[in-house]
Amino acid sequence: MAAPAVRKLPQNFLWGFATASFQIEGSTNADGRGKSIWDDFSRIPGKTLDGRNGDDATDSYKLWQEDIALLARYGVKSYRFSLSWSRIIPLGGRKDPINPKGIEFYSNFIDALLANNIIPFVTLYHWDLPQALHDRYGGWLNKDEIVQDYANYAKVCFENFGDRVKFWLTMNEPWCVSILGYGRGVFAPGRSSDRTRSPEGDSSTEPWIVGHSVILAHAHAVKVYREEFKPRQGGQIGITLNGDWQMPYDDSPENVAAAQHALDVAIGWFADPIYLGQYPAYMQQILGNRLPQFTPAELAVVKGSSDFYGMNTYTTNLCRAGGDDEFQGFVDYTFTRPDGTQLGNQAHCGWLQDYPEGFRALLNYLWKRYRMPIYVTENGFSVKNESDKPKEVAVKDLERVNYYRGVTSNLQAAILEDGVDIRAYLAWSLLDNFEWADGYVTRFGVTYVDYNTQERIPKDSAMFIVKWFQDRTQPS
Ligand code: NOJ
Repeated sequence: MAAPAVRKLPQNFLWGFATASFQIEGSTNADGRGKSIWDDFSRIPGKTLDGRNGDDATDSYKLWQEDIALLARYGVKSYRFSLSWSRIIPLGGRKDPINPKGIEFYSNFIDALLANNIIPFVTLYHWDLPQALHDRYGGWLNKDEIVQDYANYAKVCFENFGDRVKFWLTMNEPWCVSILGYGRGVFAPGRSSDRTRSPEGDSSTEPWIVGHSVILAHAHAVKVYREEFKPRQGGQIGITLNGDWQMPYDDSPENVAAAQHALDVAIGWFADPIYLGQYPAYMQQILGNRLPQFTPAELAVVKGSSDFYGMNTYTTNLCRAGGDDEFQGFVDYTFTRPDGTQLGNQAHCGWLQDYPEGFRALLNYLWKRYRMPIYVTENGFSVKNESDKPKEVAVKDLERVNYYRGVTSNLQAAILEDGVDIRAYLAWSLLDNFEWADGYVTRFGVTYVDYNTQERIPKDSAMFIVKWFQDRTQPS
């Protein structure tokens, strides 16, 4: 008997893998690149789990052709990667010189992707702010300066690459930029009120100021694109937000409310102004005048400033009211259900368990609330203690395969049964890479990287994803 026909995803569905410049490129001193805030931060003892920094990473600045060959071998439709601002404008600012070598590197890279029929999905900002802008005026803390400098940087990118790039992401995960960089101080530039972590910073005000700047910088870059480039270049531009599914711990009204409060702070903080035109009422309530307000002129630029919803998601939290963490909206997160069982399989990262039903629920929530086409720009799993395993064992990453099996079947159900408009799925990550404060200990790759030799070895999860999408999409 013939196997039942596999139900197809929409034509032109983009699938593939994602990375980010600082996590893979290495070569931090090559060809005129300026420093980013992660360069020195990751060198400070204690800032990364293994004490290692981004100087080598997966050496992709040198091995880029190998990476593209790998993508071609996987047969992906699309590859998401980010541009390093400080390779393109080493000092970052609108009056600072452009580095032709930086332009040339990414231009060649884009050409090579296209020659392999791979659609570039380009992030402009994945956390590597030019250090000079932080030193000069406080970087994201200085709204007026950073908005202009970021819009100028974006314009340089549209000018140089927009003839070939049709999918742009302005910012990656602004919650992380704001809270981890300026609240908890665990990411660059490492500012916090906690003086054991940071000599400077004010966690009660700075994250909200930074978030506001990021939203405005995003919106101004989109304005530039729509006015000066989109009519000719015809691409899509939007922002990508991190956000996990937040589920009430139980049916009690306070925990049901807590789950919504968690969504308001994790997602609504950025999505509500951009898609609906205001900060969530709950954030205004808990932060009062610490939450900056949009002037009418600002709001006119911000509202409607994304062509799609860019979704990075990894897990589901069970939410209980009464937490003491403002950055989570005073909601307590747990993975332990009231009956003592775990929500799902535990990843290497403490914050991640495998609960694929949450993926579908989140897609439905976002679709109902914002009514925008959704591009899943990141999703992935770190297998427990993967770095302790010999590589022949690590590549048999059954737990990651299980994770992707669950997610893809929920993706299919969200599209075909629930009618959610989803247009892309880009798994994190093409390669094991520099996992920020975790250094290289935590691995998210579908391809194993041997950091002694920089050898790349496909894991079983890569093969699972490739086959799953090949069975359901038209070849490019
Ligand atoms: C979100 C970030 O965008 C990415 O840089 C990071 O490596 C993954 N999540 C995994 O933590």
